[in-house]
Amino acid sequence: MTNNEEIIATERQILFSKLADKLETAYNLNRKVVSFQANKDEPIYRWFKYKEGFSSTLVKYFLNEYSKKPGKLLDPFAGAGTTLFAGQELGWETFGVEILPVGIFVMETREALNDINLEELRSTVKNLWKNLSEIDSYDTHINHISITKDAFSDETEILLNKFLSYCSKISDKKTQTVLRFAAFSVLEEISFTRKDGQYLRWDHRSKRNLSGKAFDKGKILSFEEALKNKLNQIVSDLSPNQIMSLFEQFSTRKNGFKPHKVNIIEGSCLSELPKFDDDFFDFTVTSPPYCNRYDYTRTYALELVYLGNNTDQVRNLRQAMLSCTVENKEKVEFLKQFYFSIGKTETFEKVIEVYNNSDAMTEVNSVLDELNKLEKLNNNNIARMVKNYFLEMCFVIYEMARITKSGGYCVMVNDNVRYGGEEIPVDLILSEFAENFGFNINKIFVLPRGKGNSSQQMGSYGRTEVRKCVYLWQKN
Ligand SMILES: C[S@@+](CC[C@H](N)C(=O)[O-])C[C@H]1O[C@@H](n2cnc3c(N)ncnc32)[C@H](O)[C@@H]1O
Repeated sequence: MTNNEEIIATERQILFSKLADKLETAYNLNRKVVSFQANKDEPIYRWFKYKEGFSSTLVKYFLNEYSKKPGKLLDPFAGAGTTLFAGQELGWETFGVEILPVGIFVMETREALNDINLEELRSTVKNLWKNLSEIDSYDTHINHISITKDAFSDETEILLNKFLSYCSKISDKKTQTVLRFAAFSVLEEISFTRKDGQYLRWDHRSKRNLSGKAFDKGKILSFEEALKNKLNQIVSDLSPNQIMSLFEQFSTRKNGFKPHKVNIIEGSCLSELPKFDDDFFDFTVTSPPYCNRYDYTRTYALELVYLGNNTDQVRNLRQAMLSCTVENKEKVEFLKQFYFSIGKTETFEKVIEVYNNSDAMTEVNSVLDELNKLEKLNNNNIARMVKNYFLEMCFVIYEMARITKSGGYCVMVNDNVRYGGEEIPVDLILSEFAENFGFNINKIFVLPRGKGNSSQQMGSYGRTEVRKCVYLWQKN
């Protein structure tokens, strides 16, 4: 270790020592509960797996454990709406902000299911194939962008376009939504692509000119087979004997109270949270994107074009999302202008000051800059991504603290990350920001380490697994 590196590790160690007593291994919060996997019995999450989601079990656990009665619940990164619908089931009035049309569409479909006309849906599904076979031209079609071009075989593409055209003419809007959702849920299955975090992987059978090692995704279902399976699953799950067990909302109704409406806000939480009044929320349960280069706009490119987004819209979405890819440019000028436009320049300055005053943050930024100069990072925009990730999260956390009532809670799920061998303690740095803005750090629950990742095994590679945590903050 050079002298420089010795100094470098210090600020993070100091912060670790300061917050060490807040870290607690949470054996009751296993990975399944924190991931989307525990949602497999829930309607809609069974049909479309939003792998970036967490489970309703997790949301309900925290709401039940830390609040006496329902109130107003927020998720600033709502995704497919796990927090909102789980909270609704428990009688909460819920509000979610989500930037990606994919999550918005899933939430809208779930809303449509609340009072879907099952007979109408059944009969539309029954007549679907006959009606589709009668269509020979279509007026609605998918407009591909460069990263999705040739994702489907010609036959599948034609059927998809006919299907979209057909759906646009279904007069019952809820039935229309559910049908469009069914095809939306099988896009990956019927395509030559596989979701892979930073980009789509392409099967060797596609028309694309692919370089590198050939990838075979296995069986690619025909449109008809995949859609039939999906529609059967949906219709069967919605049938009256199933729905009672699947849709707890119905039992909530039975329990005597009418659920509150779920408030879905499409946009960026960076500009939406400032619109809420001070002390508005009782609880927040959320999970922001992780600082891990995961690109939602590439992973969900097929779904985005299916929903009608063009090249510019996808590019703008990528830039407007919380910085977590190497392509994100900094938003500080936007934030400065934004806070100026709402007459809150001093807020902007205060948040920047908290960010700049974090010694651990300053250390992380300078270590990454140094590693970048030495060409020890896989990509030379990693340092910029990390810097901006935290800067944007600093604004989000400021706003969450402002709009949470005194005594209210915030639960946040997030993973630490490592670049160039340097661990970045996301849990500690974000908690330090939170403390500066008026939250008390009650606990940082650390998930038990995964199998095959014992410190001994990891040690043989000179690495230990980074912490995956659930933070529990309470407004003073
Ligand atoms: C980890 S996922 C949350 C998943 C959610 N907990 C669920 O169970 O479905 C993070 C979400 O944040 C969204 N997101 C990213 N940047 C955003 C922004 N600036 N404003 C609002 N949402 C954003 C992403 O589209 C993604 O859906």
